Amino acid sequence: MAPEQVGENGTIRSMSQQLLLVGNWKSYITSTEGAIHLVKTLDKKLPKKLKSKIVLVPAAPLVALVRYVYGGKRMSVGMQDVTQHEEGASTGSVTAAGVVGSGATYCIVGHSERRKDGETNVDVARKIRLLLDAKVTPIVCIGELERDRDGNFYNILEHDVAECLARILPQEVSKVVIAYEPVWAIGASAAPASRVVSEALVFIRKTIASQFGREIALKMKMLYGGSVSPSNAHELLHLGHVNGFLIGRASADADQFIGIIKACQ
Ligand code: PGA
Repeated sequence: MAPEQVGENGTIRSMSQQLLLVGNWKSYITSTEGAIHLVKTLDKKLPKKLKSKIVLVPAAPLVALVRYVYGGKRMSVGMQDVTQHEEGASTGSVTAAGVVGSGATYCIVGHSERRKDGETNVDVARKIRLLLDAKVTPIVCIGELERDRDGNFYNILEHDVAECLARILPQEVSKVVIAYEPVWAIGASAAPASRVVSEALVFIRKTIASQFGREIALKMKMLYGGSVSPSNAHELLHLGHVNGFLIGRASADADQFIGIIKACQ
């Protein structure tokens, strides 16, 4: 089992595993040329001995292209969302089978930019189930809309974790990645202080521990997402006690993304 760290107040943190750096291109890159250029530039500039696992997550129409052009040698490919519907009569949807068919091995679910269009925790739980059944790794976004002085956002986090993970078995927990993405920090001018990130991650891990047990919770990969940049990645990594990052804007710019990768070496 991965080594663990017991923090003040008996809190638990995983010190586990290879770091995971996920580049969520959102809709910043929309053309074939743009996608090919970005992936080739990244490939050229990647450190020789990569210490992190890199996942590129283009918009759906570009996923198979990136996988095909790149071949997935040093970077994996992910999808930004999946439908709850089965394959077949589902116009306009990317099904779990479609995710697999595209060559993606990861899939983001529950992103706040999907939740604002009505996606609920119940939807997220169903999507996680479909992805696990299809052997795709779900990256589950969880995060409060805003902070309040009384700490009610902790109740929201607890509730979201419980509902999103409602359909998985204890032995599947380590196959799911959690991305703590406080909505107020996404696309903001700066990321929160590392202490803020660390406290939230410890809380989420404790919540998972109370649901599934401590050993299982320690195996879970937990990322931070929201305004990660080359200048804050190193500190967030070391003081925020994260297992990696979910990166938006900066991942659509080769120099910025490489800067973050290097800060994590
Ligand atoms: P950002 O987005 O890095 O642009 O803040 C993160 C995300 O939404 O995943």
